[in-house]
Amino acid sequence: MPKVIYIDVDGERHETDVANGLSVMEGAIANGVTGILAICGGSCACSTCHGYIDEAWIELVGPPNEIEESTLELASERRAGSRLTCQIAMRDELDGLVVHVADNDG
Ligand code: FES
Repeated sequence: MPKVIYIDVDGERHETDVANGLSVMEGAIANGVTGILAICGGSCACSTCHGYIDEAWIELVGPPNEIEESTLELASERRAGSRLTCQIAMRDELDGLVVHVADNDG
């Protein structure tokens, strides 16, 4: 099972196993990672699952599609690696993915 390393807003590192096909958001919720609120439940409508893909992983993860892009406009503090974590499905090639949780509560 691929691993995802979440760095929460307090800088705490959570190394977790997230099954293929689950979203990075679902992996965060299942593993008690704070800061991923996911208020819309993963339907790309709220932006409270905002996270920053670590620089080394941005290319492999790929860019947001048009729908995600428009929802991302609701997110605060957007950066180069900004993604809605509910829109990233885990797969083997993302094993070791590092995601920094955005301040979704602020
Ligand atoms: S959970 Fe709402 S946009 Fe991802």
